[in-house]
Formats: sequence, structure tokens, C-alpha cells
Amino acid sequence: MTSKPISELKEDEARAELDRLAKEIAYHDRLYHTEDAPEILDGDYDKLRRRNESIETQFPTLVRADSPSKQIGGKISAQFKKVEHSIPMLSLSNAFSDDDVVEFDNRIRRFLGLEPGTIIHTVAEPKIDGLSATLRYEQGRFALGATRGDGTVGEQVTQNLRTICDIPNVLPLDAGSVLEIRGEVYMAKSDFRTLNDRQKTLEQKPFANPRNAAAGSLRQLNPDITAKRPLRFFAYSAGEQSIPISDTQWGFLQTLKRWGFQVNPLTRRCTSIEEILSVYNEIGTKRSELDYEIDGVVYKVDNFDYQNRLGTVSRAPRWAVAHKFPAEQADTVLDRIDIQVGRTGALTPVAHLKPVSVGGVMVSRATLHNEDEIKRLGLMPGDTVRIQRAGDVIPQVVQRVTEGCGSAFKFPKNCPVCGSAAVREPDKAVRRCTGGFNCPAQTVERLKHFISRDAFDIEGLGATHIKDFYDNGIINAPSDIFNLKHQRQALICRDGWGEQSTSKLLQKIEKRRRISLDRFIYALGIPSVGRVTAKLLAKHLRCFTMLREIAPAAIETNGPSHQQLLNIDGLGPVVAKDIAVFFSDGKNQKLLDDLNNILEIQDFSGPDLDGSPIQSKVIVFTGTLENMSRNEAKARAEQLGARVTGSISQKTDFVVAGNKAGTKIEKAAALGVKILDEKAWLSILDM
Ligand code: IVH
Repeated sequence: MTSKPISELKEDEARAELDRLAKEIAYHDRLYHTEDAPEILDGDYDKLRRRNESIETQFPTLVRADSPSKQIGGKISAQFKKVEHSIPMLSLSNAFSDDDVVEFDNRIRRFLGLEPGTIIHTVAEPKIDGLSATLRYEQGRFALGATRGDGTVGEQVTQNLRTICDIPNVLPLDAGSVLEIRGEVYMAKSDFRTLNDRQKTLEQKPFANPRNAAAGSLRQLNPDITAKRPLRFFAYSAGEQSIPISDTQWGFLQTLKRWGFQVNPLTRRCTSIEEILSVYNEIGTKRSELDYEIDGVVYKVDNFDYQNRLGTVSRAPRWAVAHKFPAEQADTVLDRIDIQVGRTGALTPVAHLKPVSVGGVMVSRATLHNEDEIKRLGLMPGDTVRIQRAGDVIPQVVQRVTEGCGSAFKFPKNCPVCGSAAVREPDKAVRRCTGGFNCPAQTVERLKHFISRDAFDIEGLGATHIKDFYDNGIINAPSDIFNLKHQRQALICRDGWGEQSTSKLLQKIEKRRRISLDRFIYALGIPSVGRVTAKLLAKHLRCFTMLREIAPAAIETNGPSHQQLLNIDGLGPVVAKDIAVFFSDGKNQKLLDDLNNILEIQDFSGPDLDGSPIQSKVIVFTGTLENMSRNEAKARAEQLGARVTGSISQKTDFVVAGNKAGTKIEKAAALGVKILDEKAWLSILDM
């Protein structure tokens, strides 16, 4: 930025600077909103805008038609309102081969306990590569629209969605008082090309692919900009509905068509696996001719009764699967191999490549996983390699194509950041830096994880800020983030952090002092504890005090606490060990004490199961049930807050006995445990 005082600017200089500022601000807006990758601190951005406004005040006749000051809500710090979805927006599990699809069908049959030969109607729909959105109609009028977000909470983008012609504003009366329609917002390939040509003419950076262009266009704070972007919408499912629209997915889609929604024309209703796979091949053949991007075919069980019975597991429905198209590949030159140090100290080799387009996305880096992978592929810098990317996963190197003239890569035995020994655990492929909290790379990565989206998610505090604060000694440990208010003056004096941005950041940090137990556990970055495990732990242990009691005690593998962790369905011995090791480490205990002193960690508040007759009950199923498989019975019991175990003990509340129940009945009787027959079990479900 020129430092010339505004009062000294000549008219020509002012015009040129306003031109440059308009472009620069638009560029940073896009990085922030579209690519979620800001390059500058908020304070520096504010300075650009302030300078733009001051020059405009001095030279009112030079205000540009596209001036950043004219853009409604264009302020980068402004945010979309958050919307909690009344019914979560799920994701899909994937199938990569025909065998996976057969297994999907078998799983459904087993779960529903269907007679062999029973026909399961399945709807096959192209998997559109855009971003999902939900449209809420109240009294037949489009009232609220939101992005998927993390599946539970999305962003309110109603005005932007109103600009999309494929979205009807009004529905007929039979839509009921509340109806949520879900589907994919996308940009046609042809529109994407035109838009990018326009971006180039305006000397603005083109979008990487139609998906990014659609996401960037929908997430505009100014709906006038969205209106100029050619977005489209395919409808494919429902959220909340006050009256059921249909008994089947197929019927539902037909109704949507009548109401004016676009339903993908390649959608088919199939009666067998063979038919499903032939639709997959048919859609795959047409893929390149379609004017929109698809990355697979989604199969959904047609019958909604079956769908309800099948339910969900780990945020994906059991009744649907996405059959992905094979990964896209390209060849390029391996320039060099770098080593990255992650938050658990793992040394990950990263391939730096000559940039190449793989299925429309420019790729210049790929993961090499670990040192064995480099050996397996026989890679040396200078080689030509084949890389592939599928969906959102990190690109991978598949094989060496031709040998270059580089020399062999030596995997380091010391951490490239802190110099500590990097050791391989027996039988593990990963080499880890032993520096722990003394390794700057590990500490920074832990801090970045701590504030990441599914953890503390502090608005205005990104990974770049964390690195900057750490490098300058402002933050060393997670608790320092919540003590930043004591360093207010030091922050204000930092380049790019004025009075305003500092106050705003401190306010946002304060807002996060209160945190749910599952987010808190996830934020700790315990090896092998992701979002799902963090939720399981929170759900079963309910409060921080319990967690502090059970988790460190679980280090005793023969003790009751270890057993209590293993009793959590979905948590195995490896994860239990990682949890116990983390919580019994002295440094981590200090970290937990520090955080507990400054945070309000909320007890787990699971779904409202107050009315459930089997909430917290321990149930054992034995024998064959006539109306549902063992898996379904277990899933239904767990949905209602019960815990299902395999063996009967004093703690068992009751046993559900089907046909041929065997010896468990005797054991139950001996222990005085209540025994229910299938009829009684079904009446509990009916309650
Ligand atoms: S159904 C309950 N149908 O894929 C399942 N999703 O990987 C909800 N998608 O977030 C999704 N085309 O953005 C469904 N025909 C289709 C789809 C589709 C694209 C996307 C959607 C979803 C993601 C899940």
C-alpha cells in the first residue's frame, strides 16, 4: 500500500489507487468467502477499506461504480446468520466397486430381515457435484434457505437462494404448513466457462471448478452478486414435513416435478442389483457429455418405511450409498519431497509436483503417507509420477511412470523442525517426532486443531493468526487464547491489528468460553479421537468430571475404567489406550486444569429422551425375533437411549427373548432379570 498521505494525492494518482484498491479488496473478499483461505489479517484488510473510503471522501467524483464501499454487506467481517437444521443434513457413505454395492444390498436385507428374493425398489440418482442446501417452505411460501454447514448448523442464505430460477417461491396447498426441500446448488459447465471468461476480462482470478464457483456465488453477502451468477438447483430429498408427501422416494420426486422443482432427468427406479449397476454404467458413459459435474450415482431405498427402520449410523443413512466414479488421474513431474510434522508428531512426506490439472482441478501437492510408501513406489525427485484425486480427498501418488535422474530420497531420522529424534513404533509405518510440546511444529498444529471448525471454531481467528501469534510468543498453549484479553495492548500494537479488530477478536473468544463436552474433547487433539469418538465419549461419560475420573484411570487395562471405555459401542482397545495415555500424562493434566479454570465445559445434552421407557436401561437380546433382525433391534434400542450388551449380568435390566432363546433365559431367570417376549418388546417401541 502506498504510504503517501491522502491530502497529497493528485487526481490521477487517486484514480489509479482506487482502481488498484477495488481489485485488491475484491481479491481478498474472494479468498475469504470463496476459498476460505485469507492471505492477510483482518486488520490489514480493514486498512485497505479505510484507505479506499478516505480517498473517496477526498475525491467524490472518482468513486467507481464497482467500489467496495458500495457493496451492501460486502464487509469481510460480516457473517451469515447461523441456522440449526430441524433435521440434520446427513452425508452419504461411499461404495467404490460393484462388490461394495452388493454388500450395501446385503446389509439392508440382513438389517430388515427380508426373505431371500424379496424385491427392494431402489432409486438411482446422479450425484451432483455442487453444494447442498435446504429450503424451508412455511404455509407454502419459501421462508428460509440454508447451506448444509456441518450438517447440524448451516448458514442462512435465503436471499441468495431466492435468486435461483429453479427454486419455486410458492408451493401448492398440499405441501402442508411446513415442508423442507433439500437438493444441490450447482453451476452448469457451460455457465462456469462463461463466468471464468468474464473473470479473466475483469482481471479477476478464475474459479478452480464449477463446484467452487457455485459455493463462492451462493455464499455472497450481497445477493445482487449471487443474482448475476448462473446457479441452478436439483431437488432430491426432504427435511422436516408437517404432512408426508409420499410413501416412496420415487413418488416424492414425481410430486416435486409437478410443483416446479428440477429433478434430475437421469433418475431411475430399479428393481435389482443388475439394474442398478447398469444405470451406473449408463450414467457413467454419459458423464462427460452432461453440462453439469457429477461424481457418482446415489442409490436410495425407495420405500420410506424401510428408510425409517434402517435409520442412520455415524451421520450417514443406512438406506443410501454413493457409488463413486473411479478417481481421475494425470501424469506430472515430482519436483521434491518435503516432510510435514503433524499435531501428533507424525512425519508425513509430501510430494511437490509440477502443477497439473486432474479432472478440472489444479494439483501441485500430493501426500506420500509415510516412508514405506516412498520405498514401495521407488520414488526419487525428478521422476514422472501418476497422481489421482477422487472427490475431496487429498491427491495421491499412484505409481512412478518414468525414472528421472534424481538421487534417492533419505527419510530423516530426526524431526526437521525441532531436531528431536523421530522414531518408528514397532509394527507401525509412521515415524514420530519425540519432541512433544517442545516441538514448535507439533504445538502450532495442536493449536490450529484446537480452534478449528469442529472444535472451538473461533470466528476471526484462523490458522495463519495462530502461527503468527505463536511465532511472536503471544500464544504458547490453548489456555493462552482465552487469556489474550490480558495482552490487549500488545495485540493492538501489532501490525494489522488495530483497536477495532482486537476488540472484535476478544469478543468472539469470550463467546467461545462456553463449550459443549464433545467439542471440547475433540479440540484436545487426542490421537485417534475424531469427531465421532469425541461424541461417543461425551454421550457416555456425560460431564467433564466423569471424563477426568475415568479416562486416566483407564491406563490400568484390567481395571473397571478401562472396561467402561471398552463398553462404549464403537470404541476399541487402540482408541481406549490413546485416551488413557493422553489423560494420564502430566503435561496434559496441567493443560486440562488450566482449561477447566477458564472455560465452562457443558455437560452432554443428548437428544430429549425423557419420554423413552428404556432410557439408560441395559438390554440383552437373545434368540431370533420375527419382526426385525438383531441389528435393527439393537439400533432401535440405542436410538431410545438404551445400552445393548451381549451377556447377562446383575446390571442387565431386561432380556428380550425371541425364538430358540437358549441358555441366556436360564441365566436371566437365575439372576432375577426380567424377561420380555417379542410382543412386549414391540409394544415398548410403539410407546
Ligand atoms: S442425498 C440423506 N442425493 O452428496 C442423504 N445427496 O455425500 C442426503 N449429493 O451432502 C443426501 N447429489 O451434497 C443426495 N442425488 C443426491 C445427491 C446428493 C449430490 C451430495 C449432497 C450431500 C453429499 C453427500
